Amino acid sequence: MSHNPWAANVKFVNNQLTVAGISATELAKEFGTPAFILDEQDFKSRAKAFTDAMKRSFDSSIVYYASKAFICKQVVGWINELGMGIDVATGGELEVALSMNFPVERIEVHGNNKSLAEIDRAVSVGVGCIVIDSLQEISRVAAAAKKYGRTQSVMIRLNPGVEAHTIEAIATAHTDVKFGLSIASGVAWDAVKEIAKYPELELRGVHAHIGSQIFNMDGHRLTIERMLDFMARYKVEFDRELPDVDFGGGFGIVYTAEDAPLAIDDAVAQIKDAVVEGCAARNLKIPHVAIEPGRSIVGPSMFTLYEVGTTKVVDLENGATRNYISVDGGMSDNIRPGLYGAIYEAHLANRTSTAPTETSRLVGKHCETGDILIRDIDLPSDIKPGDLLAIPATGAYNRSMASNYNHVPRPPVISVRNGAAKVIVRRENFEDLLRLDLL
Ligand code: LLP
Repeated sequence: MSHNPWAANVKFVNNQLTVAGISATELAKEFGTPAFILDEQDFKSRAKAFTDAMKRSFDSSIVYYASKAFICKQVVGWINELGMGIDVATGGELEVALSMNFPVERIEVHGNNKSLAEIDRAVSVGVGCIVIDSLQEISRVAAAAKKYGRTQSVMIRLNPGVEAHTIEAIATAHTDVKFGLSIASGVAWDAVKEIAKYPELELRGVHAHIGSQIFNMDGHRLTIERMLDFMARYKVEFDRELPDVDFGGGFGIVYTAEDAPLAIDDAVAQIKDAVVEGCAARNLKIPHVAIEPGRSIVGPSMFTLYEVGTTKVVDLENGATRNYISVDGGMSDNIRPGLYGAIYEAHLANRTSTAPTETSRLVGKHCETGDILIRDIDLPSDIKPGDLLAIPATGAYNRSMASNYNHVPRPPVISVRNGAAKVIVRRENFEDLLRLDLL
């Protein structure tokens, strides 16, 4: 069990934070700050750990990379090379996958409100699977399938009514959420019957995703039980077994030393046990099993590199003082502290310091008080303008949720491997921002 938030090839060498042999100072000099720095080998080995664990556990399986966590052409290329599938949740994510000629049969389309255009595009290119998330969507997908003369494979996103132990905003399968079709209310079964009316649709199985940044598999185990009950009912009523099942993503990662997620192998082993025992108990064949990890593949593989611009000591009303350290990014490249109260660590990256630490507030450059990256962090008291700070575990839902607030150009993503760095998403510039404005 690891409590280390850094990617595998990040080390302190000669007083410098380095990734795969390149120092933070060199990276900042060549690519500027703020920047997302990605350890390519770390990304690939995490992805491979999931596919290997699934192959060991099931005769037939697929790992869909949840591209919402972070997608760009290069990542799509890697996912393809690794033989994985990709989960897209919008037309935009789909276009990135298609731009790399990603094999369409390994694309799975999600979304609780897919537009007609998104459905049309997905069906026209022949995506492997569309995950149905509402009753209305069924006739829409069927109409597109008819238009293109295809039989479209679909799954039903179930809401199993399971409370995942995570932050409320990212839990997805308790009762009062917009996602999926509830098993308990009967609407999921209505979807089964509705899909059966359309010869253009082939129901492949059921899907559930119960939330994100989850540290134990209790919720998944209960979900698996409820999904298998549903599949057993299907077997009785349709005299056929649903061949596929998909348990979504949600596997937690280390953000700070306090976080203790399951190892990838252990999480998959628990899924295997629940499926094998559950199928045996219900006399079901072991289905083709899919999972959709996003955060647990890309999250730990990146850190954000910032430069300190100003420091300030502020007098508080109670007579105490607070030390503010401002970096050249902020809530535009990491909205997670503001949105979810997410907690991060930061480390001095361009040198080591023997100065005593003091509790500081790490903030960004945006025009609001809530632009806080880390509310309280012990950092060396001699941190000064020009120093570099690195925040680990910022690969998932950081660049992908980045904004242009205050018309700040979004940071680049730099991939590093064996001492060589490569830009895989370039830094936005003012021209990019102005290009959309019309007079
Ligand atoms: N599958 C489905 C259907 C999902 O909705 C998600 C995430 C995943 C897979 C991947 O979950 P992961 O393995 O990454 O936990 N912005 C939030 C997280 C939102 C997750 C949305 N759905 C955050 O920054 O924590």
